[in-house]
Amino acid sequence: MDRFTAYRVEKNDKAVSASFVEMDEAALDAGEVDVDVRYASINFKDALAAAGRMPVIRRFPCIGGIDAAGVVRASRSARFAAGDPVIVHSHGFGVSHHGGYAPRARVPADWVNAVPKGLSLLQAITIGVAGYTAALAVEVMEANGLAPSKGKVLVNGASGGVASVAIDLLAQRGFHVVAATRKAQESGYLRELGAAEVIDPASLTVPKRPLESALWHGAVDSLGGAALSGLIATMSKDGVIASIGNAMGVEFSTTVMPFILRGVRLVGVNSDNDVDVREHLWRRLASDLRPRHLDRIAQVRPFAELPRWIDAVVNGRAKGRTVIEMPG
Ligand SMILES: NC(=O)c1ccc[n+]([C@@H]2O[C@H](COP(=O)([O-])OP(=O)(O)OC[C@H]3O[C@@H](n4cnc5c(N)ncnc54)[C@H](OP(=O)(O)O)[C@@H]3O)[C@@H](O)[C@H]2O)c1
Repeated sequence: MDRFTAYRVEKNDKAVSASFVEMDEAALDAGEVDVDVRYASINFKDALAAAGRMPVIRRFPCIGGIDAAGVVRASRSARFAAGDPVIVHSHGFGVSHHGGYAPRARVPADWVNAVPKGLSLLQAITIGVAGYTAALAVEVMEANGLAPSKGKVLVNGASGGVASVAIDLLAQRGFHVVAATRKAQESGYLRELGAAEVIDPASLTVPKRPLESALWHGAVDSLGGAALSGLIATMSKDGVIASIGNAMGVEFSTTVMPFILRGVRLVGVNSDNDVDVREHLWRRLASDLRPRHLDRIAQVRPFAELPRWIDAVVNGRAKGRTVIEMPG
């Protein structure tokens, strides 16, 4: 298969668009590992990139897809051999280097991890960059003092990919998880993942003062913007917020008061990690940070339906992890 169908993001004049195109393998970017892609997924960033909503893509044209799982076809890295099951994500993948929306990928070895024993390719992509980020959030929050005995943990954007895995991980670690979702109809799904309470984000405090009633010991924030402003004002003493995303906005407002009077910790989470961190976390994702409900979280869709499901993600209609299955 020297030629294949890819879903590629292009820029013509100032307009960004994405479509299925025929490509030659010779057009792939350089890298040490060639992968036969079996699954990719749709992350919020992929949806924004394909819809041209935000300047996500840094090199045009670019095959989209910031994560993929598959089997090594050929390797020029000592870390991998033909036939190894692998997961590829982060750094330039699907952003400045051709990504996962094609049956073939060629990538630098540092962007690749062996799928740990005990996880299938489908389970690995269901975790994907979203689940990896959720696990990283749990790790950094616990390193900053998060403990089940200290209070409730709020997870917003709860029906989304990062949030779904975060709820699963936190609940199995004994936390009382409060899931905030705009989708009341997903209440049953979120409780199955382990949420103890499901609330409407409209019921959350809109801060009028720097410090409002303390409600949360921990928070996983996929939204940013006004949602993050509200969280900062309502954290309890020594509470920890993992700032993951910006689905609502990039700007937030606060004063120093929550930080100096309550010791609130606002911790940034970035999945672009070095190889040793990636290997450590993927090992944990197959052992003590292994999500229990991957089969419930995965929404598997065929490659041919990619544009339709990108539209669902960009318009907030998707839930869990939208997994894309390659033909054959
Ligand atoms: N830091 C990192 O390295 C990293 C890695 C992966 C992802 N991210 C970021 O994390 C965020 C979540 O990613 P994801 O892949 O989990 O996305 P996702 O699956 O699309 O989930 C985002 C969720 O946020 C809520 N939402 C979406 N648009 C909203 C809006 N305009 N206002 C309020 N709520 C909105 C929706 O939840 P409800 O309908 O349930 O409320 C949606 O399901 C994104 O900003 C993404 O870029 C960062």
